Amino acid sequence: MSQSRRHILAIDQGTTSSRAIVFDAGLSPVASAQEEFAQHFPASGWVEHDPEDLWQTTLATCRAALDKSGLTADQIAAIGITNQRETTVIWDRDTGKPLDRAIVWQDRRSAAICATLRDAGHEPMISARTGLLLDPYFSGTKVKWLLDQHEGARDRAARGELLFGTVDCYLIWRLTGGRTHATDATNASRTLLYDIHQGDWSDEICALLDLPRAMLPEVRDCASDFGQSDLAHFGAAIPICGVAGDQQAATIGQACFEPGMMKSTYGTGCFALLNTGKDPVASQNRLLTTLAYQLDGTPTYALEGSIFVAGAVVQWLRDGLGVLATAQDSASLAAQADPEQDVIIVPAFTGFGAPYWNAEARGASFGLTRATGPAELARAALQSVGYQTRDLWEAMRADWDAGDSCTATLRVDGGMSASDSAMQFLADIIGAPVDRPRILETTALGAAWLAGHHIGLCPGPQEFGRDWALDRRFDPAMAEDERARRYARWSRAVAATLSV
Ligand code: G3P
Repeated sequence: MSQSRRHILAIDQGTTSSRAIVFDAGLSPVASAQEEFAQHFPASGWVEHDPEDLWQTTLATCRAALDKSGLTADQIAAIGITNQRETTVIWDRDTGKPLDRAIVWQDRRSAAICATLRDAGHEPMISARTGLLLDPYFSGTKVKWLLDQHEGARDRAARGELLFGTVDCYLIWRLTGGRTHATDATNASRTLLYDIHQGDWSDEICALLDLPRAMLPEVRDCASDFGQSDLAHFGAAIPICGVAGDQQAATIGQACFEPGMMKSTYGTGCFALLNTGKDPVASQNRLLTTLAYQLDGTPTYALEGSIFVAGAVVQWLRDGLGVLATAQDSASLAAQADPEQDVIIVPAFTGFGAPYWNAEARGASFGLTRATGPAELARAALQSVGYQTRDLWEAMRADWDAGDSCTATLRVDGGMSASDSAMQFLADIIGAPVDRPRILETTALGAAWLAGHHIGLCPGPQEFGRDWALDRRFDPAMAEDERARRYARWSRAVAATLSV
């Protein structure tokens, strides 16, 4: 490898913004740029992104991060990509023009397709192949919806004229000037179309959803060759060598390489992944079985708990209710809450994810009095994230019976993990230590490591894991009976919300 190429460009294309970070060979961030883009809500429960926005903000932030770093493209050894998962794009192979806007992972429009398949008894087969559940969250039923909606689209897809991809795949296509139509195994594992045991698209599921296989991308390892960026984008071609869905990239960035290690990321939603090693674990508690990563052709599996509303509940207080000026104010406001008031918010704004999986449920609040104000709501919002994580924690521990090596601590990252009080409550309510790493950019870090590892610039998993450094450990300080009382009350609130 050239001595002049010793930096990595990581792209983190998320739900609300695109980011690019330049890392040096020691995986320290050198420069970054971020741009938000428009969210489209054309109908209740629908969420769309314009694929052109995803691409243009990605391109602009890559160029801005390169500018800030003072490096030129020919000094970048490789690109790593991580992305919002499940979000579905279909585009024309020749013109690159999207068939429609991207249907975002949060979008619930294909709930009826899921219900029909479930009623017809197909869920056990789909779960056995994919490790997922029949929920509109995943890409497969979104693809079906799009092909059903656009006349002639299915025939064009069968002729290979229309291509499907998750956001990583669409960005790779754009970056390479249409030369690579490929995805990685972790993104494939979120589509509802990929057999995680066979490591291939499932013909049976494609037939069930009437999706032509010709439109599906090739599936590669996370650290692999995904082609080179077109010369026109950055002035020099850069190889794309690392790709993983954002929660899987965070699992890597948190160095959760050993079975039993678990991380939880607090962004728009909250996604907890537990590394289960070389064998997939079928959940008895409505968790997902998914790929943590795939290296050298060998998949490593994970159990995942996906919660749709975490940071989004704070955004709701800020943008919906107008009781916060900035998201960062939530912790100081929550600290002023009346200790006598026990307000609970169940933020099922877009239904429940794990472990309840109910697309129709909506949010609720309990314990309101005339004295309830912004401070009590802010505290309830932050605590709802802790309670939801406890739901996942319980399910994980019930599914993962590994004796003493069973998950003992939780590694956290994402925006909300910066809040000491929210992390302390989390440790209190799960009753286990919560570890916050020094580098909170774990998602981009994971993508950078994959790319750097592939080209031999970065160390192997073990050495990378040894370099993982703790910022702060939060030890549980709540009395056991208090923890039990509070969690029982939360569980009753969830049950009541589900029953409405
Ligand atoms: O599964 C959805 C997840 O990948 C989205 O993550 O960080 O963009 O909210 P984020």
